Amino acid sequence: MKRLLYGSCILLLSVSVTLSIYFTFKVLAIEAQSKPMSPKKYDYHFVLVPEELDNDYWRLVEKGAKDAAKEHHVLLEYVGPAQADLKEQIKTIERSAASRVDGLLTQALNEKQFTPLINKIDLQGIPVITIDTDAPKSNRIAYIGTNNYYSGFIAGLALAKDLKGKANVAIITGRFEASHQQLRVQGFKDAVKNYKGIKVIAIEESNISRVQAAEKTYTILKEHPEVNAFFGTSALDGIGIAKVIQQFHRENSTYIISFDVLPETIAYLKEGVIEATVVQEPYEMGYQAIKMMIAHLEGKRIANSIYTETKVVYRKDLPLVPERNYEVRR
Ligand code: BGC
Repeated sequence: MKRLLYGSCILLLSVSVTLSIYFTFKVLAIEAQSKPMSPKKYDYHFVLVPEELDNDYWRLVEKGAKDAAKEHHVLLEYVGPAQADLKEQIKTIERSAASRVDGLLTQALNEKQFTPLINKIDLQGIPVITIDTDAPKSNRIAYIGTNNYYSGFIAGLALAKDLKGKANVAIITGRFEASHQQLRVQGFKDAVKNYKGIKVIAIEESNISRVQAAEKTYTILKEHPEVNAFFGTSALDGIGIAKVIQQFHRENSTYIISFDVLPETIAYLKEGVIEATVVQEPYEMGYQAIKMMIAHLEGKRIANSIYTETKVVYRKDLPLVPERNYEVRR
């Protein structure tokens, strides 16, 4: 009996020892899995600050920049206002510079505020590349993006050709204060000024919002029923204009030329509500900007400004290639 008791005690003890060893290992393994990995070492740390983070156009710039960053071992942060907000954008740029990043990429929305801002950051030893919108008199090391004056000019020529030199035009622009929007409007006006039959009747701003673009379109149509053509100078404007035109069944009597090719723009182009759109190369801008910044940090000479391609496209030109500049993945 004593032997039996002794034997079962030994058995119990060895089972409990085995079990506790097993569980200790298991817990350690789980802990190891859930612990954050040690931070990866990158060659450079860059920040990309757009006008509006969650804008499909800027998401394509981000995609290009992230792809290049991955290929070249760069830590890239994409930060800025969720919705267009100039003060917030400037604050984000200042905060990024204060955290001593190796390079800053941003859209220089207006020369008055961005020229001194960029110069201050340059003095701190942080190189700045402007994307999409330039501040040419600042100490930025380079610009990459559309030639904005030219893109407005070709929009004007396309409208004049499509409407055989006769139209009452309204323009919806992203923001009055933004340099690239001003250049697009100026280019457009210069292109149509020699056509006596073309008049620019009204110009309103959308504040980078498709809802406001729609509201402004509605007001323009109410106040100026003679308007029979619209030009939307930033990515969401054409979409807002098209919505109202379709609602009032005016698509057969109203011509729309928009900017960019977001999924909604493509849908309206296919339906024939938007006649033409000016395309830019947002993916390319982001991708090349990272490579330019690296080249600069490696002591290589880089071009002062690089104009990515811009052209007017119609329904017959769809689908557009290369896809990476136009395909928004949600
Ligand atoms: C412009 C961007 C702008 C976007 C707004 C584009 O056409 O190039 O600067 O942020 O439209 O939706």
